[in-house]
Amino acid sequence: MTSVFVNLAYVVAAVLFVFGLRMLGSPDTARRGNALSAGGMLIAIVVTLLSRGIVEFQWIAAAVVAGAVVGALASRLVAMTAMPEMVALFNGSGGVASLLVGWAALFGSAPGAAVGTFTAATIFLSVMIGGVTFSGSIVAWAKLAEAMPSGAIVFAAQRFINGAILLGLIACGVLFALQPAPDSYLFYAILGLALVLGVMAVIPIGGADMPVVISLLNSYSGLAACAAGFAINNNILIVAGSLVGAAGIILTNIMCKAMNRSLTNVLFSGFGTVKTATKVEGDVKPIVAEDAYLILEAASSVTFVPGYGMAVAQAQHVVHELGELLETNGCEVSYAVHPVAGRMPGHMNVLLAEANVSYDQLVEMDDINPRMANVDVAVVIGANDVVNPAAREDDGSPIYGMPIINVDHARTVFVLKRSMASGFAGVDNPLFFGANTRMLFGDAKASISALIAEFK
Ligand code: TAP
Repeated sequence: MTSVFVNLAYVVAAVLFVFGLRMLGSPDTARRGNALSAGGMLIAIVVTLLSRGIVEFQWIAAAVVAGAVVGALASRLVAMTAMPEMVALFNGSGGVASLLVGWAALFGSAPGAAVGTFTAATIFLSVMIGGVTFSGSIVAWAKLAEAMPSGAIVFAAQRFINGAILLGLIACGVLFALQPAPDSYLFYAILGLALVLGVMAVIPIGGADMPVVISLLNSYSGLAACAAGFAINNNILIVAGSLVGAAGIILTNIMCKAMNRSLTNVLFSGFGTVKTATKVEGDVKPIVAEDAYLILEAASSVTFVPGYGMAVAQAQHVVHELGELLETNGCEVSYAVHPVAGRMPGHMNVLLAEANVSYDQLVEMDDINPRMANVDVAVVIGANDVVNPAAREDDGSPIYGMPIINVDHARTVFVLKRSMASGFAGVDNPLFFGANTRMLFGDAKASISALIAEFK
């Protein structure tokens, strides 16, 4: 296959990636966009496999089968609530793949052939970024899966140590690029330092800052792939890596804005370690489904505010059913989605789409908040941090400054959760003690089902 044909096919694949990404921007076109990008990837893979005699095909076939088995099992076995952990592992896999590609490139195209300075520099970058992404993602996974403490781990001179590791890495990288060799001790120093830096960079981040880290690691995995693309001189890997890198950075920016934090602040402040929230006490007013029904039945506007608990309870289908019953009753129904509700970007949107909630009924935080005072009932379904007024009012709270959905401004608030336990950020929520708040205790699916039974 001529290189002109290969590069033309890569251009087609790149165009499909770009248009696919563009179409992911709207729920109406997202599925087609996904298929378009997947088509681009298929073209890229087939053309690459046919054009390069790099590995014997039986190894590629074995890897494809092994990957397909792992993927198929994961898609069946991993619960929807464990998707963020899965995403962290995906990012880590991307990082380690780029690391290995960079490492392999070190051995040159022919046995014994040395690589040039430019290639060595790109190998350094792919191993460094890939290594940081890999070990950082494993720590992020462990925090999300609570295989280790999910809070920030900070200690004296941490920033100094991290700075020293980074400087050491850069120094090794420069020396290695000037004199690259497969058996260079500098290469192994880069490998080791990168893995250590990934761990060190992620342990001081925890609590509600985890979404930012996940999207940042996603971006890193793209940058590592881009560097690996330069190392092995593969144009489509460079393009795909850049797109992932850029998309990850845009998402990171959106996450930071959603939490009203700067990236530097997230990366270096040590979430939850410097502030202590005010302890909240007061009277809680529980309500039972029969009484909640009477209020909902009389309401002319209801806003559902879903959170992580809706995902745990898998309550999205019954929420939609209740929404439809309310509409039949003449009530205006909307669903307010906070950008970091749940445990991954778009978590609530995916669940509500799965339950066939119309996208027209979804409202963003900035659109619902000015109208909240006119909402008769705000129904909080397993959300906690994203509706916590302490973020607005308590400057000692670790989540202070994070924009929230102001459900406490609605005429009445129902909070559906199982106990008085705190949410992901581990802070108390004064909403539960509000004069207009009624706690409907229990599993969200069971509570909503009980409300539906009342309506019927
Ligand atoms: P959270 O603040 O984590 O609160 C979830 C609440 O759901 C808990 O208080 C829990 O209370 C309740 N719950 C759990 N299972 C339930 C069930 N079966 N039925 C009813 N309620 C149930 O959730 P949120 O408000 O969605 O906020 C998200 C948090 O996660 C933020 O701090 C955010 O920064 C963080 N985070 C977000 C992401 C992304 S990208 N979205 C990623 C990582 C972390 P009970 O135990 O009392 O039931």
